[in-house]
Amino acid sequence: MRFLIKGARIVGPGESFVGDCLVDGETISAVGTDLSNFRDSVDKVFNARGKWLLPGAVDVHVHLEMPFMGTVSQDDYESGTECAVAGGTTSLIDFCLPAQDQTLTDALAVWDEKAANKAYCDYSYHMAITHWDESVKEEVKQIHAHGITSFKVFTAYKGALMIPDDAIFDLMQTVRKLGGLVTAHAVNGDVLNIKAAQFASEGKLTTHYHPLCQPPVAEGESTGRILELGQLADQPAYIVHMTCREAVEELSRARLKGWKSYGETCPQYLLLDDSVYDLPNFEGAKYVLSPPIRKKHDQDALWGALANGIVQTVGTDHVTFNFHGQKDLGKEDFRKIPNGLNGLEERLSLLYTYGVAKGKITENRWVEVCCTNPAKLFGLYPKKGVIAPGSDADLVIFDPQKNSTISAQTHHSKCDSNVYEGFALSGGPSHVFVRGHLSFEDGEFKGVRGRGKFLRRTAAGGPI
Ligand code: URP
Ligand code: ZN
Ligand code: ZN
Repeated sequence: MRFLIKGARIVGPGESFVGDCLVDGETISAVGTDLSNFRDSVDKVFNARGKWLLPGAVDVHVHLEMPFMGTVSQDDYESGTECAVAGGTTSLIDFCLPAQDQTLTDALAVWDEKAANKAYCDYSYHMAITHWDESVKEEVKQIHAHGITSFKVFTAYKGALMIPDDAIFDLMQTVRKLGGLVTAHAVNGDVLNIKAAQFASEGKLTTHYHPLCQPPVAEGESTGRILELGQLADQPAYIVHMTCREAVEELSRARLKGWKSYGETCPQYLLLDDSVYDLPNFEGAKYVLSPPIRKKHDQDALWGALANGIVQTVGTDHVTFNFHGQKDLGKEDFRKIPNGLNGLEERLSLLYTYGVAKGKITENRWVEVCCTNPAKLFGLYPKKGVIAPGSDADLVIFDPQKNSTISAQTHHSKCDSNVYEGFALSGGPSHVFVRGHLSFEDGEFKGVRGRGKFLRRTAAGGPI
């Protein structure tokens, strides 16, 4: 289909202006202040006066159908990408997680199987490195050649996902030669495990103790260490889900020195505080994730770092477990609560409502951190993340006056709860186009299952 979006406020990473956008099939073919001369040659005109036009958002931290802590997360490639599209996200990057005895190639085949013919939007994977030897090192090159140009390490989840510093450094040197990013979940896993065992031995097993096992200093320490290893290997390093002032300070220091260092935060760390862990009736379990929700002053540090450019992206770390039947595996012991919460559908509107509309970030910075920077860092730009001729027609008509309230009753996730239950939104997507296909319109989901394609990525990795 050939169509015209007319009269929108086109919000890009650097500027906003009122204009039109012409789409031919799956691609943007023109953008300008007045494209009325194309009116007669198109199949349809969308009048977007009073609304904003954004590039489809890119969420680079998503877990779909994730096997974790003895269970599997609720949202799979069907419901997860439905959440994404309904919330204005048109590309996402999941994590392929090899088991301890599995090759990267075999794990990739498993993830391809999970995704096959299910996705409503485009997707890719980061390859997690959960064990390390010469054969894994060889495989990294093959995975990279397949268009998976970012790798993930964990300095926590000892005995499951964590790998030691020598493996991380060797990986960084390997990726350095190929181009791409090494991303890290950075919290000192040894400290975490010892503290958790100590609490357990004292019978301290309620959700209150979950954040106390992995305090901000343990995150700052690991963040600094990863960034230093990146500098020693001359390899760009990206810290996922940053939660606290201590981590921001480490990233700020690294960037001031000119190191190729990047960071991501998530809505839960910007909007929630650790009082959630003291909610009655085991409700705190809904918020158990790692790293944990922090204090109010950490929210301020993160908003500041987002606004001033220290932190480059907002992801979600969307990984959903039902309150009934999954989170309650840890009813007697917080260490057994499956870690994770939702955000894929809510991210863009939450960041608008509590960031842009409250004056914490500009509309252009919002687009930068939710759309453009993730695409640039992870090798998807300029196909994704920008409204420009030649780019994929992943587009969001955003209504900055659409009031709604988040609820598990109405969300698109399969999860039985939503950590933003009752949160008011003052804006949201009215139309979402996935490569030119109208997939969401005025609250109605119109996506086509299986339309989403695997994205082979280039070796980006900054600098931004
Ligand atoms: O608690 C979390 N974040 N669960 C998902 C895995 C991870 O650490 O990203
Ligand atoms: Zn993590
Ligand atoms: Zn994650």
